[in-house]
Amino acid sequence: MGENIPTILPKIIGHRGACGSAPENTLASIARAIELGAPAVEFDATISRDGHPVIMHDFNVDRCSDGHGPVVLKTLDEISQIDAGSWFSPQFKNERIPPLSDALALVLSSNIVLNLEIKPTLGWEEPTARAVAETLQKVWPEDRQILVSSMSTLALDVFHELMPNIPLGLIVYAVPDNWRDLLDRHVCHSLHCNPAFVTQELITAVHASGHRLHIYTINDPAQAQALFDMGVDAVFTDHPDRLLAS
Ligand code: G3P
Ligand code: MG
Repeated sequence: MGENIPTILPKIIGHRGACGSAPENTLASIARAIELGAPAVEFDATISRDGHPVIMHDFNVDRCSDGHGPVVLKTLDEISQIDAGSWFSPQFKNERIPPLSDALALVLSSNIVLNLEIKPTLGWEEPTARAVAETLQKVWPEDRQILVSSMSTLALDVFHELMPNIPLGLIVYAVPDNWRDLLDRHVCHSLHCNPAFVTQELITAVHASGHRLHIYTINDPAQAQALFDMGVDAVFTDHPDRLLAS
């Protein structure tokens, strides 16, 4: 099943770095994924007011920092002054929201495979995808394994125009009936979805259509094993150490 489909992402992917044991989407979290031996890491890129891609999941900085308001209304300089670690634990005080370039440099200092998610603020899909592609064009070596994913098909299309050789993943929560058309139309390698929507039929059909199926977010090793036994290709986890140990 799926033997002829290229493997871009290995089976265990650290989610937002290794966000079960470090503040999500920070350099500390990415470093933690590397240190735990995760074969791959995922994090989310959005843009600042002045067009710099930074690593952040939410539209607003409030949940994961001591700052307030939309990230897209802040300049990179303003973003760099926010503490993105203390909310998680005092041990991470002064951890920052990293520019994408710093996060890429950290990934490139190791052998870890990268899944970079383009996570645009709604309405900012095009500039976000452009800024991510421009940063990758400057620093990402052609022979380094990477998959770029997004929930935004517009972001995927804009990115693909600029970097057509980088494989893409479409992220959904619930799998839509027209998933096959969407994967084809947006030139995607993989479908990423929530485990509630995984069935044996879906796995078979995704592989038969020449794609990979990646599931988020799985923190229970038994659930991960059950998904792998069914044929799921990879899972995102906040705790790569737990899944690697089982
Ligand atoms: O790609 C898997 C996962 O990162 C998508 O969900 O919300 O954690 O970015 P989210
Ligand atoms: Mg993500």
